[in-house]
Amino acid sequence: MNNIKAIIFDAYGTLFDVNSAAEKCKDKIGDKWEGFANYWRTTQLEYTWLRSLMNRHKDFWQITEDSLDKSMKAFEIDISMKNELLDLYKILSTFSEVPEVLKKLKDKNYKLGILSNGTPALLNDLVKSNNLENIFDNIFSIEEVGIYKPDSKVYDMPIKKYKIQKDEVAFLSANTWDVSGGGNYGYNSIWVNRNDNIFDNLDYKPTEEVKNLKQLLDII
Ligand code: LAC
Repeated sequence: MNNIKAIIFDAYGTLFDVNSAAEKCKDKIGDKWEGFANYWRTTQLEYTWLRSLMNRHKDFWQITEDSLDKSMKAFEIDISMKNELLDLYKILSTFSEVPEVLKKLKDKNYKLGILSNGTPALLNDLVKSNNLENIFDNIFSIEEVGIYKPDSKVYDMPIKKYKIQKDEVAFLSANTWDVSGGGNYGYNSIWVNRNDNIFDNLDYKPTEEVKNLKQLLDII
């Protein structure tokens, strides 16, 4: 990995903690908040894959709301919580080490980008609400290509923009299927394995595995 020119980050679950919206409501939701948060996330991702396969695109914000509706029913959460949860989803917090690591990487000579299913508006708001406006060279949203990860058109975006080779990208994701997606495409995919998870069997093993972004500084 000594020819890396761009470091590209997945957003949801990698830089931003997707469970933080439900966690902030845990007093109201109760002990089931974590199961609910995981169910919401899984349903949201399933909808991205299904809509891509069905050729029935809806943007990530609409999918987030659709998957929330189903999850609230499944976990018998009162509908009055819906707007609060959606509002919190717009201002998800980063994982604690993220701002400091990004600032250190910014001082080196890499292109830094986000590559995400999120809409441009959602991603810009997340970056702003976490004071990260001056960090990224580009925020690549799948809305530009109209299909969700792991379609190769998504992973093509930074390659075309920076006119670099696939193996000149270090791609970081906490989502195992996204690590496989980027890796099968040709990136050096680095798995951010925050919770000691098990990797997928999708014909790719990560170039590197880190527990958090801080460990990236040891290998880049
Ligand atoms: C994203 C989702 C996959 O940010 O986490 O693209």
